[in-house]
Amino acid sequence: MGKGYKVSITGVGSFLPKKVLTNDDLSKMLDTTDEWITKRTGIKERRIVENGVAASDLAVDASLRALEDANVLPSEVDLIVTSTITPDCLFPSTSCYIQEKIGARNAGAFDLLAACAGFVYALSVAKGFVASGAMKTVLVVGAECMSKITDYTDRSTCILFGDGAGAVVVQQGNGRREIITTSLGSDGSQAELLMLPAGGSKLPASRETVESRSHYIKLRGKEVFKQAIINMVDVVTKAAAENNIRVEDVDMIIPHQSNIRIIEAAMEKLKLPKERAYVNINRYGNTSSASIPIAIDEIEKEKLLKPGDTAILVAFGGGLTWGSAVIKW
Ligand code: UT7
Repeated sequence: MGKGYKVSITGVGSFLPKKVLTNDDLSKMLDTTDEWITKRTGIKERRIVENGVAASDLAVDASLRALEDANVLPSEVDLIVTSTITPDCLFPSTSCYIQEKIGARNAGAFDLLAACAGFVYALSVAKGFVASGAMKTVLVVGAECMSKITDYTDRSTCILFGDGAGAVVVQQGNGRREIITTSLGSDGSQAELLMLPAGGSKLPASRETVESRSHYIKLRGKEVFKQAIINMVDVVTKAAAENNIRVEDVDMIIPHQSNIRIIEAAMEKLKLPKERAYVNINRYGNTSSASIPIAIDEIEKEKLLKPGDTAILVAFGGGLTWGSAVIKW
């Protein structure tokens, strides 16, 4: 199959809400400590939205920054693809709210759901549209208000999650940040390891679902933890092999930020120095599909990669779902 046009990330932006929730704040709310959270997850603090703020609000700021960075007008966007597990509502899509708020009057708009791997999925979709020539400019967004689906009485999950958004503009190749390959995977047999049980067609909202706290994330942490490490190693190894790159020659791994111990264990198994993974989980926690575009924005602002460097994006999450993208910076 022909590969079509080259495809680049031509702009990037992110937005984090101002309000900080520290480990010490959490230790006043329930039975936990800064020491436990730091040691077991690497997280020190996370950002949380104020009441009344939705995923599209975070997405709009991130999107406008990405469009400005790409020097693209909202009216030039052909498609908005948003990855989120915390949409403004079940329907219409969060992408439609973003479309209206940024004034992307010529854009199609839809959301996709692949949990923490969602940004890589959305990037892969955008690459396909642009590589085929079907579209010129796709806005890819990862936006999450995880605090709205987090059970702050459950100490094993509430310490993990934070809110935020990131966005990238995907267009035909300009010689920078070229998306060389993407790969996606899933295993629905393990859906129950990480899910939000109620509020869909299987278990619609009722007094019982509210009383049983079934509108919050349920996570079987230990099982997800083990799989995440194995998967990250496998996905990075395959992505490198597919591109005839030696793993040791990869300049940076940009992983979904789920737990510092997952990232460090995977780096050790890949025989890469842990400094070669980009990490900001200490500041933002797990922001699901927003974590990778936020990381890309920070990497660009801090100029941590130079033209020609190779980076691999890698993510794993509920579904189970996973994916990677090899980017030539
Ligand atoms: O985004 C992708 C998907 N998500 C993930 O990748 C998350 C993956 N999982 C994890 O990151 C980890 O499994 C957690 C951070 C969720 C939990 O860490 P763990 O090392 O697997 O701890 P655990 O669940 O085995 O619990 C160990 C102990 C338990 O006490 P006992 O039974 O040994 O007495 C827990 O009750 O730690 C206790 N515990 C806590 N203690 C203080 C659990 N949460 C807390 C807490 N503070 N917040």
